[in-house]
Amino acid sequence: MAADKILNIGLLGYGHMGRTHAYCLSVLPFYAPSVAQHARLYGLCTAHPDSARTAAAGLGGVRVYDRPEDMIRDPDIDIVDICTPNVFHYDALRAAAQSGKHIYCEKPLCFDLKEADTVAGETSFPVYGRTCGIVFHNRFFPAVRLAKRYLEEGRLGRILQFRFDYLHNSCIFPDKPAGWKQDAAVCGGGVLFDLGSHMLDLLTYLLGPLDSLFAKEQIAFPVRTGRDGQTWTVNADEASYLLITLKSKAIGTLTVSKISSGTEDDLSFAIYGEKGALRWSLTDMDYLEFAEETSPNSYHGFTRIAVNGRYAGTDPDFPSAKAPAGWLRAHVGCYTAFLNAVLGGRAACPSFAQGAYVQYLMDRAQESARTGREVSLEREAPEWI
Ligand SMILES: NC(=O)c1ccc[n+]([C@@H]2O[C@H](COP(=O)([O-])OP(=O)(O)OC[C@H]3O[C@@H](n4cnc5c(N)ncnc54)[C@H](O)[C@@H]3O)[C@@H](O)[C@H]2O)c1
Repeated sequence: MAADKILNIGLLGYGHMGRTHAYCLSVLPFYAPSVAQHARLYGLCTAHPDSARTAAAGLGGVRVYDRPEDMIRDPDIDIVDICTPNVFHYDALRAAAQSGKHIYCEKPLCFDLKEADTVAGETSFPVYGRTCGIVFHNRFFPAVRLAKRYLEEGRLGRILQFRFDYLHNSCIFPDKPAGWKQDAAVCGGGVLFDLGSHMLDLLTYLLGPLDSLFAKEQIAFPVRTGRDGQTWTVNADEASYLLITLKSKAIGTLTVSKISSGTEDDLSFAIYGEKGALRWSLTDMDYLEFAEETSPNSYHGFTRIAVNGRYAGTDPDFPSAKAPAGWLRAHVGCYTAFLNAVLGGRAACPSFAQGAYVQYLMDRAQESARTGREVSLEREAPEWI
């Protein structure tokens, strides 16, 4: 790519995540100046052109497109960034692939496995010739990256067991109307797809591929008010519980829920090996807890390691390695990694192939919950680096 080339990014959707992605691009000059020189937010398209125009003005005059296909097919757009509800990912992904764009897409990759496999097949690297990345930003929390390093260095020894939890309280209020994330026709799967996609990625990223799983789903509030104000029957899981065996033979649990009172954004994991253990919680994100088992008499429990902004994958001097990291920082790290891959002509990591593998795991978990049986996971996982 020419040294002075600027990649024009077209953002599809400007809700919670569209704004998060726009934020990431706006702070790149500070966190990743060398990348910022080569990428800019150029276009915006949402379901509501009027509010898109207001947002675009606030973003400094970004071009507004009334129809997704107009933005996706515009030759001035180099990267399509998809932040729409899950059911709309597929059409946008296919249109972007047919137009030969680089693509950055929010998780889950698609609405179901068939769609995800089609998209991953059409955009596989290097045949497709462009870079396609999925947003699994939790890998980019500094403490998670340090945990990965400890695991790669073998500091925990053989992994024996684990616990991965992602708990919210957003569905415990029956009077709160359901949103699209509670409607299976729009999300494809409830909390399993929303929070579970993140956790299945994180589990595979840290501990490797899965061998089998047994899943149970729960709907605790079967009737609530729908988006149209009418009585509505809930059709997507409000919690999912997975008992998982890894290819490595480690066994553990993965719980995702939006019916956990008192929680807010409580992502946490604990990993127990024969030589030591790691614990981390998003609610205390700047500290990684580590325990070493050197002999039966030397047990001293967990030590808290202050990680803060170190290992964030962005400029280590901004604002300072000592400064607390924050939730948005992981999204900045994920976007920076994707843009670096585009600029370097490399495959993205996290990739669409990894996104399709996570979609496979979610599909098998739904199958297990439906049949009440443990399912084996025959599919080979893509490289997860
Ligand atoms: N990585 C994360 O941290 C994270 C967090 C939340 C959501 N997500 C994912 O991000 C995606 C969007 O979720 P959200 O919470 O931002 O949703 P949202 O409801 O807040 O926003 C959706 C946006 O998409 C627009 N939209 C809807 N249909 C459209 C269409 N057909 N064409 C163009 N625009 C359309 C809406 O106008 C809105 O701007 C989902 O796939 C979700 O799973 C990721």
